[in-house]
Amino acid sequence: MSRFWSPLVHKLTPYVPGEQPKMTDLIKLNTNESPYGPSPRALEAIRAADNDTLRLYPDPEALALRTALGARVGLGPEYVFVGNGSDEVLAHAFQAFFAHGEPLLFPDVTYSFYKVYCGLYSLPFRNVPLTDDMQVNVADYAGPCSGVVVANPNAPTGIALDLAEVRKLLELQPNRVVLIDEAYVDFGAESAVSLIKEYPNLLVVQTFSKSRALAGLRVGFAFGQPELIEGLVRIKDSFNSYPLDRLAQVGATAAVEDEAWLATSVQKVVASRTVLAEGLQKLGFDVLPSKANFVYTRHPNRNAAELATQLRERAIIVRHLRGERTAAWLRITVGTDQQCETLLSALRDILCSNSL
Ligand SMILES: Cc1ncc(COP(=O)(O)O)c(C=O)c1O
Repeated sequence: MSRFWSPLVHKLTPYVPGEQPKMTDLIKLNTNESPYGPSPRALEAIRAADNDTLRLYPDPEALALRTALGARVGLGPEYVFVGNGSDEVLAHAFQAFFAHGEPLLFPDVTYSFYKVYCGLYSLPFRNVPLTDDMQVNVADYAGPCSGVVVANPNAPTGIALDLAEVRKLLELQPNRVVLIDEAYVDFGAESAVSLIKEYPNLLVVQTFSKSRALAGLRVGFAFGQPELIEGLVRIKDSFNSYPLDRLAQVGATAAVEDEAWLATSVQKVVASRTVLAEGLQKLGFDVLPSKANFVYTRHPNRNAAELATQLRERAIIVRHLRGERTAAWLRITVGTDQQCETLLSALRDILCSNSL
């Protein structure tokens, strides 16, 4: 508390990011980063960037990057917005599109930053409960609202909606923006990007942080019709004209162009995900069907918070989220095969050493 703070600051409940430990020998399965390094072409482009140009501001429009991102999905740069991580893209979208008085709708179990943005921009919201088996039921998103936000695949569940369901959502709310947060889409879900030309109310948000292994570069992007992109640009240019530095722009552009690296890296993660899920099931865990680079899992007779603590004592960190519907669960990032095996044997140990 401070007398210098604006009244809004007193009321904020900021997002708490997953731990970024300083210790280096931990197995870090808590923030859904990639276990593999980024595309060598991206690293090379960053290294080759002419240091002298760092004197100069970067391209405020990031045109080369937006053109490369659009070309990959058959859209012009006027359909593409980029920002400093998809968190920033999401923040601008919340401010640009969801202040219409009615509540914004998003699931009760989802990315917890959404409600933080609602606090920051004073937007009313309504949590729509997932079904008992942790699915989004799109019919629940009808009625007056200021917009809809759905992560697909959802986080932390990893469960995906198919395109027909996304279409239903868009048609339920033709006069409101439906934001599909596709942070994890490359790991097996269907992208709604193919629907952009058909639906003026669709905004699809993606990131370089997960499948492209560039969380440290902070680059996110959105696809939408030019009318929506212009709304986002108006917010961006009223906030920070240069959200992406020169290194981020060249690195991300080279990463987009390396399709082969992306395909191989995603394949490895998906294969390890199957091994991890099966290994957990053999140990008695329930595992939700994941289309992301993490699994959401619970043990029928173990306390999830205690399991997380015991894993940490063995130098493995996973994510446990408090909250009524999430307290029993652990979200575990898919690591390398070796890391997944170490995790499974640690869990085997823990389950044996303090069996009921
Ligand atoms: C569903 C979802 N959306 C967006 C983000 C933000 O990612 P970034 O800001 O790194 O692009 C995350 C990060 O974990 C996420 O889980």
